[in-house]
Amino acid sequence: MGTFSDAVTAAGYGQIIPPLLEDIGVFHRVGEATDVVTKEMYDFVDKGDRHIALRPEQTASVCRAFVQHGPTTPWKVWYAGPNFRYERPQRGRFRQFDQVGVEVLGVEDPYLDIEVICLAWNFFAQLGLQQVALHINSLGEPSDRERYMQALQEYFSANLETLSAASQVTLAKNPLRVLDSKRPEDQELISGAPRISDFYSPQAKAHFDTVQEGLSELGIAFVINEKLVRGLDYYRHTTFEFVGGTLESAQNALGGGGRYDGLVEALGGPSTAGVGFAIGLDRTLLACDDEGVFAPTPEDVSVFVVDITGGKEAMLITQGLRSAGVSADRAFEGRSIKSQMKLADRSGATVAIIIGPDEVAAATAVIRPLRSDREQYIVSRKDLLPSITKELS
Ligand code: HAM
Repeated sequence: MGTFSDAVTAAGYGQIIPPLLEDIGVFHRVGEATDVVTKEMYDFVDKGDRHIALRPEQTASVCRAFVQHGPTTPWKVWYAGPNFRYERPQRGRFRQFDQVGVEVLGVEDPYLDIEVICLAWNFFAQLGLQQVALHINSLGEPSDRERYMQALQEYFSANLETLSAASQVTLAKNPLRVLDSKRPEDQELISGAPRISDFYSPQAKAHFDTVQEGLSELGIAFVINEKLVRGLDYYRHTTFEFVGGTLESAQNALGGGGRYDGLVEALGGPSTAGVGFAIGLDRTLLACDDEGVFAPTPEDVSVFVVDITGGKEAMLITQGLRSAGVSADRAFEGRSIKSQMKLADRSGATVAIIIGPDEVAAATAVIRPLRSDREQYIVSRKDLLPSITKELS
């Protein structure tokens, strides 16, 4: 989380905290033909007879907030928090999962698509993940997408008998989503389906070309995946997904996003361009586990105070260190020195400060380096902070 917020804050994004609950209409208006909205939403009627949903994602809430508050554009925001989808739980697919993401409203420029893709790309790189592939596609202008959907409808309808029963149901709702079918019996038909790139208007093609050229220029490797239609309905132009190398294929998207010009209008606002992404933190952590990489655990402290005189000295020293900006932790409940040293080691601390009766009597403290072979040594209590600062520098 810290890695993400530092990166996006440095790029000029401000934090927004969308509510967990929204009027269900906010989500209905953005994806009536998607599983996320039709099957997976947790919804209920509240005491005031309002139909409410637990948010399945946050883009719609950000756009609803934009319509409601009318901030000046470009409006660049980031968010982090839980989302809820009634899915069959399995590794990488949960009913409550966390996302971090960004949204930018009010900018049509394809260079912004590149900026947001870069932010996500850099985040995965900073975590140390090596096996993340960037897939990109463009769904064109709304009219290109309409013509393409029409062509898909005709193509799949003409070959209905070879389409799986589940995909026939999908076809009736949204022919684009048929392309997302993972069922083996659908694959041959899908591979012969019309291609979106044959339907781009000159403007849509120019937009997508700029995105590809920019990514290449920045050295960001990508594959064009024309079947990347995404699970939500609001996308136009650029779409993208970050695919992990270690998870099952149905759950291997670590994050995704794209352009959704038109969503703000669908929610009752003025015509406004939008682009953003969300990264699934649960899947990203699984990928970190699988690849054996870990960002430093944020709970690690610099100093652990071991007090075998009852606990009051540890209270004084940890508070003193923390006020001076040094991260510090301690044990409670009068544990033995052995057990406290074990906790000190587990805390990730660089040094332990050890206080026993002799140290209290002599107004001294023992400093023991925990991550080197150096011997422990004694300092006077008044020199404790400078000695610790030196140890940590
Ligand atoms: P999404 O593709 O539905 O997009 O979700 C983004 C990421 O959230 C996925 O790639 C995945 O890592 C994670 N995710 C989704 N569902 C689950 C689940 N059930 N369990 C665990 N992780 C999950 C969106 O949500 C869009 N709002 C992204 C966006 C932002 N588009 C534009 N702006």
